Amino acid sequence: MSLNTVRHDYKITKADRERINDHRSFLVWFTGLSGSGKSTLANLVEVELHKRNISTFSLDGDNIREGINKDLTFAPEDRTENIRRIAEIANLMVDAGVVTFAAFVSPYIKDRENIKTIVGKENFIEIYINTSLEECERRDVKGLYKKARAGEIKNMTGISAPYEAPVNPDLEIVTDNQSIEASVQTILDFIIQKLK
Ligand code: ADX
Repeated sequence: MSLNTVRHDYKITKADRERINDHRSFLVWFTGLSGSGKSTLANLVEVELHKRNISTFSLDGDNIREGINKDLTFAPEDRTENIRRIAEIANLMVDAGVVTFAAFVSPYIKDRENIKTIVGKENFIEIYINTSLEECERRDVKGLYKKARAGEIKNMTGISAPYEAPVNPDLEIVTDNQSIEASVQTILDFIIQKLK
């Protein structure tokens, strides 16, 4: 589709903003099943970075779907559009110099690959929150698995819709037998060395 738009180049760049902040900016993408702990971990890691005066922001599936993406369902094509929009938003945030967290199920490999195209692979860190379906169902914090098993929710990831695990994530956190504190520390250590 031709929109007849012409890109305008602004003088202040990502590098200028990074210089003022005194740290790099990039996108930290958490993928994993619903209830795997993505938002919990993103939240806690963000708190730790904030304490260290790092400029951060978090985008979260449940929140975004109540606002900008409230027109989208959990059908495959809508999930693709969900992730595309988040990637575009995250791209702006990263350009703004912010270390951006995104916690989305994002079950399709091709959709996660597309994020890299949008934000640039040098600005993209993929963290796989690997919590087994059994453990997510045991926790069932939101009661969604119970409903999905009862047939009350369609397209539930892990039950009636696929989850394509990352083949080569930048970091994998297996949460089943690990404390939240240990997971936070591992992610934090990984991110801190990327800030320089
Ligand atoms: S994604 O697949 O498009 O990336 P997203 O992360 O935005 O999903 O939203 C997932 C959240 O929506 C889950 O954490 C859960 O609370 C809720 N949800 C509601 N229905 C579903 C469903 N069918 N599959 C997965 N998550 C669902």
